[in-house]
Amino acid sequence: MSDYKPLPWQLPVIKDKRRVLLLAGAAGGGKSRVAAEKIHLYLMKYPGATGLVLRKTYASMLNSTVLFLQNEIIGENSGVKHLGYQQRFQYPNGSILAYGGMANAQQREAIRGVGAKGGIDIAWLEEATQFVESDFNEVLFRLRGRAAPWRQVLLTTNPGGPFHWINSRLIVGGGAILYESKAADNIHNPDDYMDTMQRTTGVDRQRLLLGRWANAENQVYEMWERTTHVTEEADFVKGGGEVYWGVDDGYVGEIDEDTGYFKQNSHPRVFLIGQQRNGVMNIFAESYEVKMKQEEHIAKVLDLGYPTPEWAAVDSSSASLRGDVHDGQWGDRRWSIQTHGKPPRVDDSIREMRDWLLPDKNGVVRMRVHPRCRNLIMEMETYSRKPNTGEPAKEFDHGPDAARYLIWPLRHWV
Ligand SMILES: Nc1ncnc2c1ncn2[C@@H]1O[C@H](COP(=O)(O)OP(=O)(O)O)[C@@H](O)[C@H]1O
Ligand SMILES: [Mg+2]
Repeated sequence: MSDYKPLPWQLPVIKDKRRVLLLAGAAGGGKSRVAAEKIHLYLMKYPGATGLVLRKTYASMLNSTVLFLQNEIIGENSGVKHLGYQQRFQYPNGSILAYGGMANAQQREAIRGVGAKGGIDIAWLEEATQFVESDFNEVLFRLRGRAAPWRQVLLTTNPGGPFHWINSRLIVGGGAILYESKAADNIHNPDDYMDTMQRTTGVDRQRLLLGRWANAENQVYEMWERTTHVTEEADFVKGGGEVYWGVDDGYVGEIDEDTGYFKQNSHPRVFLIGQQRNGVMNIFAESYEVKMKQEEHIAKVLDLGYPTPEWAAVDSSSASLRGDVHDGQWGDRRWSIQTHGKPPRVDDSIREMRDWLLPDKNGVVRMRVHPRCRNLIMEMETYSRKPNTGEPAKEFDHGPDAARYLIWPLRHWV
Protein backbone atom coordinates (compact mmCIF):
# COMPACT_ATOMS: atom_id res chain seq x y z
CA MET A 1 0.00 0.00 0.00
CA SER A 2 1.05 3.58 -0.34
CA ASP A 3 2.16 3.76 3.30
CA TYR A 4 4.90 1.19 2.79
CA LYS A 5 8.33 2.42 3.91
CA PRO A 6 11.19 0.05 3.12
CA LEU A 7 13.45 -1.07 5.93
CA PRO A 8 17.11 -0.12 5.41
CA TRP A 9 17.99 -3.54 3.96
CA GLN A 10 14.88 -3.54 1.74
CA LEU A 11 15.67 -0.28 -0.03
CA PRO A 12 18.54 -1.61 -2.19
CA VAL A 13 16.33 -4.59 -3.07
CA ILE A 14 13.68 -2.24 -4.43
CA LYS A 15 16.28 -0.39 -6.49
CA ASP A 16 18.14 -3.40 -7.86
CA LYS A 17 17.31 -4.06 -11.54
CA ARG A 18 19.43 -7.15 -12.08
CA ARG A 19 17.90 -10.31 -13.43
CA VAL A 20 17.83 -12.73 -10.49
CA LEU A 21 17.53 -11.60 -6.87
CA LEU A 22 17.54 -14.06 -4.00
CA LEU A 23 16.16 -12.84 -0.70
CA ALA A 24 17.25 -15.43 1.83
CA GLY A 25 18.06 -15.74 5.49
CA ALA A 26 16.31 -16.27 8.79
CA ALA A 27 12.55 -15.89 9.19
CA GLY A 28 10.81 -12.60 9.77
CA GLY A 29 13.27 -10.21 8.16
CA GLY A 30 10.74 -8.85 5.66
CA LYS A 31 11.66 -10.85 2.56
CA SER A 32 8.15 -11.60 1.36
CA ARG A 33 6.97 -8.08 2.05
CA VAL A 34 9.64 -6.37 -0.01
CA ALA A 35 9.23 -8.82 -2.91
CA ALA A 36 5.48 -8.22 -2.96
CA GLU A 37 5.83 -4.45 -2.70
CA LYS A 38 8.40 -4.41 -5.48
CA ILE A 39 6.31 -6.41 -7.89
CA HIS A 40 3.31 -4.16 -7.17
CA LEU A 41 5.38 -0.99 -7.73
CA TYR A 42 6.70 -2.43 -10.98
CA LEU A 43 3.25 -3.24 -12.34
CA MET A 44 1.95 0.22 -11.46
CA LYS A 45 4.95 1.95 -12.97
CA TYR A 46 5.10 0.05 -16.28
CA PRO A 47 1.73 -0.12 -18.10
CA GLY A 48 0.85 -3.42 -19.73
CA ALA A 49 3.43 -5.36 -17.72
CA THR A 50 2.93 -9.01 -16.81
CA GLY A 51 3.83 -10.21 -13.33
CA LEU A 52 3.68 -13.79 -12.09
CA VAL A 53 3.67 -14.90 -8.47
CA LEU A 54 4.26 -18.56 -7.78
CA ARG A 55 4.19 -20.91 -4.87
CA LYS A 56 4.80 -24.59 -5.19
CA THR A 57 1.16 -25.44 -4.55
CA TYR A 58 -1.89 -23.56 -5.69
CA ALA A 59 -3.50 -24.17 -2.28
CA SER A 60 -0.72 -22.35 -0.42
CA MET A 61 -0.94 -19.56 -2.96
CA LEU A 62 -4.67 -19.10 -2.38
CA ASN A 63 -4.63 -19.60 1.37
CA SER A 64 -1.84 -17.24 2.16
CA THR A 65 -0.03 -15.35 -0.58
CA VAL A 66 -3.12 -14.09 -2.44
CA LEU A 67 -4.61 -12.85 0.83
CA PHE A 68 -1.33 -11.19 1.74
CA LEU A 69 -1.21 -9.45 -1.65
CA GLN A 70 -4.80 -8.36 -1.44
CA ASN A 71 -4.83 -7.15 2.16
CA GLU A 72 -1.32 -5.89 2.80
CA ILE A 73 0.03 -4.84 -0.57
CA ILE A 74 -2.62 -3.92 -3.10
CA GLY A 75 -5.37 -2.65 -0.82
CA GLU A 76 -8.72 -1.29 -1.79
CA ASN A 77 -7.97 2.13 -3.21
CA SER A 78 -5.49 1.12 -5.89
CA GLY A 79 -8.09 0.45 -8.58
CA VAL A 80 -6.73 -3.08 -8.98
CA LYS A 81 -9.39 -5.73 -9.54
CA HIS A 82 -9.05 -9.31 -8.35
CA LEU A 83 -10.28 -11.71 -11.04
CA GLY A 84 -10.18 -14.87 -9.00
CA TYR A 85 -11.55 -17.17 -11.71
CA GLN A 86 -8.66 -16.07 -13.95
CA GLN A 87 -6.02 -16.37 -11.20
CA ARG A 88 -4.99 -12.76 -11.60
CA PHE A 89 -5.14 -9.16 -10.48
CA GLN A 90 -5.95 -6.61 -13.17
CA TYR A 91 -4.34 -3.16 -12.92
CA PRO A 92 -5.97 0.02 -14.26
CA ASN A 93 -2.94 0.64 -16.53
CA GLY A 94 -3.30 -2.71 -18.27
CA SER A 95 -0.72 -4.56 -16.18
CA ILE A 96 -1.65 -7.92 -14.74
CA LEU A 97 -0.44 -9.93 -11.79
CA ALA A 98 -1.12 -13.59 -12.40
CA TYR A 99 -0.59 -16.23 -9.75
CA GLY A 100 -0.53 -19.99 -9.42
CA GLY A 101 1.22 -23.16 -8.35
CA MET A 102 3.61 -25.62 -9.96
CA ALA A 103 2.73 -28.75 -8.03
CA ASN A 104 1.30 -30.80 -10.89
CA ALA A 105 0.53 -30.75 -14.61
CA GLN A 106 -2.78 -29.00 -14.14
CA GLN A 107 -1.30 -26.19 -12.07
CA ARG A 108 1.56 -25.74 -14.52
CA GLU A 109 -0.86 -25.63 -17.42
CA ALA A 110 -2.88 -22.90 -15.69
CA ILE A 111 0.13 -20.59 -15.48
CA ARG A 112 1.62 -21.44 -18.88
CA GLY A 113 -0.84 -19.16 -20.60
CA VAL A 114 0.47 -16.20 -18.62
CA GLY A 115 2.53 -13.99 -20.88
CA ALA A 116 2.17 -16.59 -23.63
CA LYS A 117 2.67 -13.96 -26.34
CA GLY A 118 4.97 -11.32 -24.93
CA GLY A 119 6.63 -13.20 -22.08
CA ILE A 120 6.75 -12.31 -18.40
CA ASP A 121 8.27 -9.09 -17.09
CA ILE A 122 8.62 -9.82 -13.42
CA ALA A 123 8.20 -12.98 -11.38
CA TRP A 124 8.30 -13.90 -7.71
CA LEU A 125 8.87 -17.41 -6.37
CA GLU A 126 7.64 -17.39 -2.78
CA GLU A 127 9.06 -20.01 -0.34
CA ALA A 128 11.47 -20.84 -3.10
CA THR A 129 13.08 -23.92 -1.50
CA GLN A 130 9.83 -25.73 -2.28
CA PHE A 131 10.47 -25.53 -6.01
CA VAL A 132 12.64 -27.88 -8.01
CA GLU A 133 15.34 -26.45 -10.19
CA SER A 134 13.42 -27.06 -13.41
CA ASP A 135 10.57 -24.88 -12.10
CA PHE A 136 13.03 -22.04 -11.76
CA ASN A 137 14.49 -22.71 -15.21
CA GLU A 138 11.04 -22.56 -16.73
CA VAL A 139 10.34 -19.18 -15.17
CA LEU A 140 13.73 -17.82 -16.25
CA PHE A 141 13.09 -18.98 -19.79
CA ARG A 142 9.79 -17.13 -19.91
CA LEU A 143 11.25 -13.89 -18.60
CA ARG A 144 11.31 -11.98 -21.85
CA GLY A 145 8.68 -9.30 -21.44
CA ARG A 146 9.16 -5.90 -23.05
CA ALA A 147 6.95 -3.68 -20.91
CA ALA A 148 9.92 -2.22 -19.05
CA PRO A 149 13.63 -1.73 -19.72
CA TRP A 150 14.46 -4.50 -17.20
CA ARG A 151 13.09 -7.87 -16.16
CA GLN A 152 13.50 -9.74 -12.91
CA VAL A 153 12.91 -12.95 -10.98
CA LEU A 154 12.73 -12.59 -7.22
CA LEU A 155 13.11 -15.65 -5.00
CA THR A 156 12.24 -15.43 -1.32
CA THR A 157 13.04 -18.23 1.07
CA ASN A 158 14.29 -19.39 4.43
CA PRO A 159 17.34 -21.62 4.11
CA GLY A 160 17.09 -25.31 3.33
CA GLY A 161 19.80 -27.96 3.49
CA PRO A 162 23.31 -27.34 2.21
CA PHE A 163 22.61 -29.35 -0.92
CA HIS A 164 19.53 -27.54 -1.97
CA TRP A 165 19.86 -26.31 -5.57
CA ILE A 166 19.28 -22.75 -4.38
CA ASN A 167 22.34 -22.96 -2.17
CA SER A 168 24.55 -24.72 -4.66
CA ARG A 169 23.51 -22.87 -7.81
CA LEU A 170 22.41 -19.44 -6.66
CA ILE A 171 24.47 -18.83 -3.52
CA VAL A 172 27.65 -20.90 -3.79
CA GLY A 173 27.47 -20.85 -7.57
CA GLY A 174 26.77 -17.11 -7.69
CA GLY A 175 23.68 -17.47 -9.89
CA ALA A 176 21.76 -14.72 -8.10
CA ILE A 177 22.28 -11.43 -6.33
CA LEU A 178 21.91 -12.36 -2.67
CA TYR A 179 20.23 -10.22 -0.03
CA GLU A 180 20.28 -11.74 3.44
CA SER A 181 18.05 -10.63 6.27
CA LYS A 182 17.02 -11.79 9.72
CA ALA A 183 14.25 -11.02 12.18
CA ALA A 184 16.38 -8.45 13.99
CA ASP A 185 16.52 -6.41 10.77
CA ASN A 186 12.76 -5.89 10.91
CA ILE A 187 11.35 -3.47 13.50
CA HIS A 188 7.82 -4.46 12.51
CA ASN A 189 7.88 -7.86 14.16
CA PRO A 190 5.73 -8.25 17.28
CA ASP A 191 7.67 -8.05 20.55
CA ASP A 192 7.34 -11.72 21.41
CA TYR A 193 8.48 -12.85 17.97
CA MET A 194 12.18 -12.88 18.82
CA ASP A 195 11.48 -14.75 22.07
CA THR A 196 9.61 -17.43 20.17
CA MET A 197 12.39 -17.68 17.62
CA GLN A 198 15.05 -17.96 20.31
CA ARG A 199 13.33 -21.06 21.62
CA THR A 200 13.54 -23.01 18.37
CA THR A 201 15.94 -25.93 18.33
CA GLY A 202 17.71 -28.24 15.90
CA VAL A 203 17.46 -27.72 12.19
CA ASP A 204 14.78 -25.03 12.62
CA ARG A 205 17.10 -23.04 14.81
CA GLN A 206 19.88 -23.30 12.25
CA ARG A 207 17.69 -22.22 9.40
CA LEU A 208 14.96 -19.95 10.77
CA LEU A 209 16.87 -18.21 13.53
CA LEU A 210 20.46 -18.29 12.31
CA GLY A 211 19.71 -18.33 8.60
CA ARG A 212 22.14 -21.14 7.80
CA TRP A 213 21.82 -23.58 4.91
CA ALA A 214 22.28 -26.44 7.33
CA ASN A 215 21.03 -29.93 7.97
CA ALA A 216 22.34 -30.30 11.44
CA GLU A 217 23.86 -28.72 14.44
CA ASN A 218 26.53 -30.55 16.43
CA GLN A 219 28.13 -31.66 13.18
CA VAL A 220 30.90 -34.17 13.91
CA TYR A 221 33.08 -32.54 11.25
CA GLU A 222 32.00 -28.94 11.56
CA MET A 223 35.20 -27.74 9.84
CA TRP A 224 33.92 -29.36 6.66
CA GLU A 225 33.36 -26.67 4.03
CA ARG A 226 32.18 -27.53 0.61
CA THR A 227 34.21 -24.71 -0.89
CA THR A 228 37.38 -26.09 0.74
CA HIS A 229 37.01 -29.85 0.72
CA VAL A 230 35.06 -30.55 -2.44
CA THR A 231 37.07 -30.01 -5.57
CA GLU A 232 37.60 -31.38 -9.06
CA GLU A 233 41.28 -31.50 -8.14
CA ALA A 234 40.54 -34.55 -6.02
CA ASP A 235 40.05 -36.61 -9.20
CA PHE A 236 42.14 -39.71 -9.89
CA VAL A 237 45.45 -39.01 -11.58
CA LYS A 238 46.99 -41.91 -13.48
CA GLY A 239 50.33 -42.76 -11.93
CA GLY A 240 49.82 -40.00 -9.36
CA GLY A 241 49.95 -42.13 -6.23
CA GLU A 242 48.75 -45.23 -4.44
CA VAL A 243 45.04 -46.06 -4.45
CA TYR A 244 43.23 -47.27 -1.33
CA TRP A 245 39.72 -48.27 -0.35
CA GLY A 246 37.72 -47.53 2.78
CA VAL A 247 34.74 -49.84 3.22
CA ASP A 248 31.81 -49.64 5.61
CA ASP A 249 29.39 -52.54 5.57
CA GLY A 250 25.61 -52.28 5.33
CA TYR A 251 22.68 -53.83 3.56
CA VAL A 252 19.23 -52.38 4.25
CA GLY A 253 17.68 -49.09 3.29
CA GLU A 254 16.13 -47.14 0.49
CA ILE A 255 16.43 -43.93 -1.46
CA ASP A 256 14.12 -41.04 -0.72
CA GLU A 257 12.53 -40.19 -4.06
CA ASP A 258 12.18 -36.53 -3.09
CA THR A 259 15.82 -35.90 -2.30
CA GLY A 260 17.59 -38.61 -4.29
CA TYR A 261 19.59 -39.53 -1.18
CA PHE A 262 19.31 -42.54 1.12
CA LYS A 263 16.73 -42.18 3.86
CA GLN A 264 17.89 -41.46 7.39
CA ASN A 265 17.42 -45.00 8.67
CA SER A 266 19.24 -46.61 5.74
CA HIS A 267 22.44 -48.59 6.10
CA PRO A 268 24.06 -48.65 2.69
CA ARG A 269 27.33 -50.50 2.12
CA VAL A 270 29.92 -47.90 1.16
CA PHE A 271 33.14 -48.15 -0.79
CA LEU A 272 35.30 -45.05 -1.05
CA ILE A 273 38.30 -44.95 -3.35
CA GLY A 274 41.09 -42.55 -2.52
CA GLN A 275 44.46 -41.69 -3.96
CA GLN A 276 47.22 -40.24 -1.86
CA ARG A 277 49.21 -37.55 -3.59
CA ASN A 278 51.72 -35.28 -1.85
CA GLY A 279 50.37 -36.25 1.54
CA VAL A 280 46.78 -35.38 0.58
CA MET A 281 44.07 -38.03 0.52
CA ASN A 282 41.90 -37.44 -2.54
CA ILE A 283 38.65 -39.38 -2.36
CA PHE A 284 37.55 -39.51 -5.96
CA ALA A 285 34.90 -42.25 -6.18
CA GLU A 286 32.15 -43.68 -4.03
CA SER A 287 29.81 -46.62 -4.32
CA TYR A 288 26.76 -46.74 -2.06
CA GLU A 289 24.49 -49.77 -2.41
CA VAL A 290 21.71 -51.43 -0.48
CA LYS A 291 20.43 -54.97 -0.90
CA MET A 292 23.39 -55.99 -3.01
CA LYS A 293 25.44 -59.14 -2.43
CA GLN A 294 28.90 -58.24 -1.21
CA GLU A 295 30.79 -60.11 -3.97
CA GLU A 296 28.69 -58.38 -6.59
CA HIS A 297 29.32 -55.03 -4.97
CA ILE A 298 33.10 -55.57 -4.84
CA ALA A 299 33.08 -56.55 -8.51
CA LYS A 300 31.07 -53.44 -9.30
CA VAL A 301 33.64 -51.22 -7.60
CA LEU A 302 36.50 -52.95 -9.42
CA ASP A 303 34.57 -52.42 -12.64
CA LEU A 304 34.74 -48.65 -12.15
CA GLY A 305 38.07 -49.15 -13.88
CA TYR A 306 40.50 -47.66 -11.36
CA PRO A 307 43.64 -49.54 -10.29
CA THR A 308 43.17 -52.34 -7.78
CA PRO A 309 43.87 -50.80 -4.37
CA GLU A 310 47.12 -51.24 -2.47
CA TRP A 311 44.90 -52.29 0.42
CA ALA A 312 41.34 -51.88 1.64
CA ALA A 313 40.45 -50.83 5.19
CA VAL A 314 37.26 -52.73 5.93
CA ASP A 315 34.73 -52.50 8.71
CA SER A 316 36.08 -55.46 10.69
CA SER A 317 32.84 -56.13 12.51
CA SER A 318 31.94 -57.74 9.22
CA ALA A 319 34.39 -60.61 8.97
CA SER A 320 32.77 -62.08 5.90
CA LEU A 321 32.98 -58.81 3.97
CA ARG A 322 36.62 -58.43 4.90
CA GLY A 323 37.19 -62.01 3.80
CA ASP A 324 35.46 -61.41 0.49
CA VAL A 325 37.43 -58.25 -0.21
CA HIS A 326 40.62 -60.11 0.59
CA ASP A 327 39.89 -62.97 -1.68
CA GLY A 328 36.79 -63.39 -3.76
CA GLN A 329 35.06 -63.88 -7.03
CA TRP A 330 31.94 -62.83 -8.90
CA GLY A 331 31.20 -64.53 -12.19
CA ASP A 332 34.48 -64.83 -14.03
CA ARG A 333 36.09 -62.10 -12.01
CA ARG A 334 38.56 -62.98 -9.26
CA TRP A 335 40.46 -60.66 -6.97
CA SER A 336 42.82 -60.64 -4.07
CA ILE A 337 43.27 -57.44 -2.06
CA GLN A 338 45.22 -56.88 1.12
CA THR A 339 42.96 -55.68 3.94
CA HIS A 340 43.15 -53.78 7.20
CA GLY A 341 40.49 -53.73 9.88
CA LYS A 342 38.88 -50.57 11.13
CA PRO A 343 40.58 -48.29 13.68
CA PRO A 344 40.53 -49.59 17.27
CA ARG A 345 38.83 -46.56 18.82
CA VAL A 346 36.13 -44.39 17.29
CA ASP A 347 37.14 -41.24 19.22
CA ASP A 348 40.78 -41.48 18.24
CA SER A 349 40.02 -41.94 14.60
CA ILE A 350 37.46 -39.13 14.55
CA ARG A 351 40.18 -36.91 15.99
CA GLU A 352 42.55 -38.16 13.32
CA MET A 353 40.04 -37.40 10.60
CA ARG A 354 39.38 -33.91 11.99
CA ASP A 355 43.09 -33.33 11.79
CA TRP A 356 43.13 -34.25 8.10
CA LEU A 357 40.17 -31.97 7.43
CA LEU A 358 41.39 -28.95 9.35
CA PRO A 359 43.06 -26.36 7.12
CA ASP A 360 46.68 -25.56 8.03
CA LYS A 361 47.87 -21.97 8.29
CA ASN A 362 48.01 -21.75 4.51
CA GLY A 363 44.46 -23.01 4.18
CA VAL A 364 45.61 -26.39 2.87
CA VAL A 365 43.63 -29.49 3.88
CA ARG A 366 44.81 -33.07 3.70
CA MET A 367 41.54 -34.64 2.72
CA ARG A 368 39.61 -33.63 -0.38
CA VAL A 369 36.58 -35.11 -2.08
CA HIS A 370 35.58 -35.08 -5.72
CA PRO A 371 32.08 -33.62 -6.38
CA ARG A 372 30.93 -36.93 -7.90
CA CYS A 373 30.92 -38.40 -4.35
CA ARG A 374 27.56 -36.84 -3.68
CA ASN A 375 26.43 -39.19 -0.92
CA LEU A 376 29.65 -38.81 1.00
CA ILE A 377 29.45 -35.03 0.73
CA MET A 378 25.87 -34.96 1.95
CA GLU A 379 26.74 -37.23 4.88
CA MET A 380 29.80 -35.20 5.86
CA GLU A 381 27.50 -32.21 6.22
CA THR A 382 24.81 -34.11 8.09
CA TYR A 383 26.62 -36.54 10.38
CA SER A 384 26.23 -35.14 13.89
CA ARG A 385 26.35 -35.79 17.61
CA LYS A 386 23.26 -36.42 19.70
CA PRO A 387 22.53 -33.28 21.70
CA ASN A 388 21.86 -35.18 24.96
CA THR A 389 24.87 -37.52 25.09
CA GLY A 390 27.33 -35.98 22.67
CA GLU A 391 27.76 -39.40 21.03
CA PRO A 392 27.88 -39.46 17.24
CA ALA A 393 24.41 -40.43 16.02
CA LYS A 394 24.27 -43.67 14.07
CA GLU A 395 22.87 -42.12 10.94
CA PHE A 396 24.50 -40.51 7.93
CA ASP A 397 27.73 -42.01 9.28
CA HIS A 398 28.37 -44.57 6.52
CA GLY A 399 30.56 -42.54 4.18
CA PRO A 400 32.24 -40.62 7.02
CA ASP A 401 33.08 -43.97 8.66
CA ALA A 402 34.50 -45.42 5.46
CA ALA A 403 36.64 -42.27 5.14
CA ARG A 404 37.81 -42.69 8.74
CA TYR A 405 38.87 -46.29 8.04
CA LEU A 406 40.60 -45.17 4.87
CA ILE A 407 42.97 -42.67 6.49
CA TRP A 408 43.76 -44.46 9.76
CA PRO A 409 46.25 -47.03 8.43
CA LEU A 410 48.23 -44.36 6.59
CA ARG A 411 49.69 -43.09 9.82
CA HIS A 412 49.19 -45.89 12.25
CA TRP A 413 49.65 -49.21 10.55
CA VAL A 414 51.54 -48.80 7.34
N1 LIG B 1 8.94 -2.20 5.53
C1 LIG B 1 7.95 -2.76 6.23
N2 LIG B 1 6.96 -2.02 6.75
C2 LIG B 1 5.97 -2.57 7.48
N3 LIG B 1 5.90 -3.89 7.77
C3 LIG B 1 6.86 -4.70 7.28
C4 LIG B 1 7.93 -4.19 6.50
N4 LIG B 1 8.73 -5.21 6.14
C5 LIG B 1 8.17 -6.32 6.69
N5 LIG B 1 7.06 -6.02 7.37
C6 LIG B 1 6.17 -6.93 8.09
O1 LIG B 1 6.95 -7.77 8.93
C7 LIG B 1 6.39 -9.08 8.96
C8 LIG B 1 7.45 -10.10 8.55
O2 LIG B 1 7.82 -9.83 7.21
P1 LIG B 1 7.86 -10.99 6.10
O3 LIG B 1 8.05 -10.31 4.80
O4 LIG B 1 6.71 -11.91 6.24
O5 LIG B 1 9.20 -11.73 6.55
P2 LIG B 1 9.93 -12.99 5.86
O6 LIG B 1 9.29 -13.25 4.55
O7 LIG B 1 11.37 -12.55 5.76
O8 LIG B 1 9.80 -14.12 6.84
C9 LIG B 1 5.19 -9.07 8.02
O9 LIG B 1 4.04 -8.85 8.79
C10 LIG B 1 5.47 -7.89 7.13
O10 LIG B 1 4.31 -7.32 6.59
MG1 LIG C 1 8.23 -14.93 3.95
